[in-house]
Amino acid sequence: MLAKAKYRKDYRQPDFTVTDIFLDFQLDAQRTVVTAKTHFQRLNEAANSLRLDGHSFQFSSILLNDAPFTAYVQDGESLTLDLRGIDAATFQLTIVTILKPADNTSLQGLYQSGEGICTQCEAEGFRQITYMLDRPDVLARYTTKITADKAKYPYLLSNGNRIDGGELEDGRHWVEWHDPFPKPSYLFALVAGDFDLLTDTFITRSGREVALELYVDRGNLNRASWAMESLKKAMRWDEERFGLEYDLDIYMIVAVDFFNMGAMENKGLNIFNSKYVLANPQTATDDDYLAIESVIAHEYFHNWTGNRVTCRDWFQLSLKEGLTVFRDQEFSSDTGSRAVKRIQDVKLLRSVQFAEDAGPMAHPIRPEKVIEMNNFYTVTVYEKGAEVIRMLHTLLGEQGFQKGMRLYIAENDGKAATCEDFVSAMERANELDLNQFRRWYSQSGTPELLISDAYDEKTHTYRLTVSQSTPPTADQMEKVNLHIPLKIALYDQKGTRQMLQNDGNPIHEVLNVTEKDQIFEFHGIYGRPVPALLCDFSAPVKLDYDYTNAQLITLLQHADNSFCRWDAAQMLLLNELRRNVSHYQQGESLEMSPEVLNALAVVLQNYERDIELTTLILTLPRELEFAENFKTIDPDGIFAAREFMLRTIAEHLKDTLVLLYNHIRLENYRIEGQDIALRALKNLCLNYIGYTALGNNFVHKHYNNANNMTDTLAALSIACRAALPCRDTLLADFEQKWQHDGLVMDKWFALQATRPDENVLEIVQQLMDHPSFNFNNPNRLRSLVGSFANQNLKAFHNINGSGYRFLTDILIRLNESNPQVAARLVEPLLRFARFDAQRQTLMKRALERLSLIEELSKDLFEKIEKALQ
Ligand code: TRP
Ligand code: ZN
Repeated sequence: MLAKAKYRKDYRQPDFTVTDIFLDFQLDAQRTVVTAKTHFQRLNEAANSLRLDGHSFQFSSILLNDAPFTAYVQDGESLTLDLRGIDAATFQLTIVTILKPADNTSLQGLYQSGEGICTQCEAEGFRQITYMLDRPDVLARYTTKITADKAKYPYLLSNGNRIDGGELEDGRHWVEWHDPFPKPSYLFALVAGDFDLLTDTFITRSGREVALELYVDRGNLNRASWAMESLKKAMRWDEERFGLEYDLDIYMIVAVDFFNMGAMENKGLNIFNSKYVLANPQTATDDDYLAIESVIAHEYFHNWTGNRVTCRDWFQLSLKEGLTVFRDQEFSSDTGSRAVKRIQDVKLLRSVQFAEDAGPMAHPIRPEKVIEMNNFYTVTVYEKGAEVIRMLHTLLGEQGFQKGMRLYIAENDGKAATCEDFVSAMERANELDLNQFRRWYSQSGTPELLISDAYDEKTHTYRLTVSQSTPPTADQMEKVNLHIPLKIALYDQKGTRQMLQNDGNPIHEVLNVTEKDQIFEFHGIYGRPVPALLCDFSAPVKLDYDYTNAQLITLLQHADNSFCRWDAAQMLLLNELRRNVSHYQQGESLEMSPEVLNALAVVLQNYERDIELTTLILTLPRELEFAENFKTIDPDGIFAAREFMLRTIAEHLKDTLVLLYNHIRLENYRIEGQDIALRALKNLCLNYIGYTALGNNFVHKHYNNANNMTDTLAALSIACRAALPCRDTLLADFEQKWQHDGLVMDKWFALQATRPDENVLEIVQQLMDHPSFNFNNPNRLRSLVGSFANQNLKAFHNINGSGYRFLTDILIRLNESNPQVAARLVEPLLRFARFDAQRQTLMKRALERLSLIEELSKDLFEKIEKALQ
């Protein structure tokens, strides 16, 4: 096993850098010849050897300053040149490599996607193209010439501006591109293929015209306009909110079907998973539309936070990802509903990121130790990283934050920076001490706030006692105190907001928790208040305060903050679930508190107060979200309790649900805030009605009347979840209609994989032979296998071990074809510590089986080793 770990503390500046690189691609799916002429510059006088990264290609030849050169040693992942006697400040290497894009199923480096050819270089994919100093602190100017068959590949694209082109006599043509902005190799991109092209223009606020080009597979033009509109919105927003303007004359986006992740911010040439580009009302749901808007924006925002200012080393990944996620979250909040966006982000953090912190892969947002960098594109680096930026924003305010941003960009433009550079800029721009705050970058784990309160009715004083602690994590035993912004509000029993003051001095709603134990005192409080704690999730922590149901219902009904209302409902529902899981385990009958049912009824009746919030409050958390709140997860208990709650709420609210369902009418499909909100509420009603005796009728009709994918999928989904009689008819109809379209079929595969049926594993296994399924397409795999392993808690964790065996068999295959995706799909197996002894044994056995794979990839090795330690 070649698995050597790298440590953040070992960072060293490179001895050499690359100033310019000229790439020549003689492109062919079976055999591509790459000639790389690279200009090196010596940075360290004393250095006498140069180690270049490279693997997975055929190395053909090397010249040094145009002369043959043989003083090198090669191993499986590098080429080391002996440069003794060559002490020139600059020199040029010409390296020829031969690649087979059609055989490259890893989807890193140069590979074939459908009929086209494209690249994926982040994090360390460029080294699969040629030997290179493949590290983000080596910034070079790229010139790229692509030659290929014109009929097969009419479009030849790369970063920057098109500077030349021509035709050859043998039916081939060529194009040359130059990118004037120095960049690290991970931002290099190339695309060749036949596409439909949507063009547009954008005038920047300084009056420059930018050509916008969106490339999609032939026949998909009618699904491209939303992505283009999203791009223009994002460009305008970044000018208005951050004062950041686009820099090249052209911005290209290409949608491809075979892609390991969501999208990639290559300079001037973004490459996207087609899932995050293609949408029309027939094929995409409202959620798809919003996801596309946010991913398009995310990649665009990287142009400043990621490309113009890039990362010094990969340990700094959160510098660009945490910040860019924060920026895309703010974009979605400004464009749509801030409260809804916040709630969705918090759901993800609490379910997936908290679970990561509690598992064997726990790491700080700036990791200390990495074997395979691809394993660190995590919810911790991305989403918790964004939470850390958000806390800074909370502490500094918008103005202070933007002041810090301007300084950060001014100081680091054109450079490779560190997280410390960012914090330091924020600190100096605001003359604020962020020393304790910095610990968020180095400490892993989810902090817990234990809060208790006391009220003195004689002095009208209310006191909050706050203690912080962070439990040890797999990577780090000792924890320190953090600077935690704790946003609160106090309500009186009638739900009126109380002023926060101490001795007549106003107290800011954001408390600074910095010590192990701290007391906050509030004066002039008449009557014991109901505290709203951690409003808007002001810090990525767990809250432990012993709320009564009565307090939570007060908050649910009266809080003036949408997030607090939703969060109160979450806590009420979690209490109900907990109680019922233990009833289930003790063989007792399940029940729901009448006061909770009534509180939910009141929310539904008053839906007009806030339509979106009503839907979110009444949406029962998914099993996975519930599960994260248990030390030991009981998949059967959680399933049974949740199912019981769904049916009970449905029965209790039936009349209102039916009334409301019939009342909401949306004729023409429009992707617009109010309509999305109403559709979601109507489909929420349908979802509950599905569990009543009226279910089959309503759902079947809903499916037949649907004129858009949101409604179609809502019907199909509840038909499966509630095993309605119409289920098979609808599934067959959908399949028949969409079997030619993998992206749409992904929805169908995911529904099949999450069926509550006893024989769901058999169904999933059979679907692996479905004509629309393709093992080498990560989207298909994630929809069928990923949904089964992550979303079907009960079936995947079947106590007979069949789910674990199934996943293991797949991972053994994937280890070879696509290690990056394998390492993502293995995640649910790593979390064995959260289950009972019997399941633990089975899960560990599965991991041990994987650890014996002969050529185990670094990707899987790193995770399995950590888990079994
Ligand atoms: N930098 C990309 C983003 O956040 C994501 C990314 C990292 C990626 N590695 C990748 C995408 C590998 C595809 C394949 O937007
Ligand atoms: Zn990103």
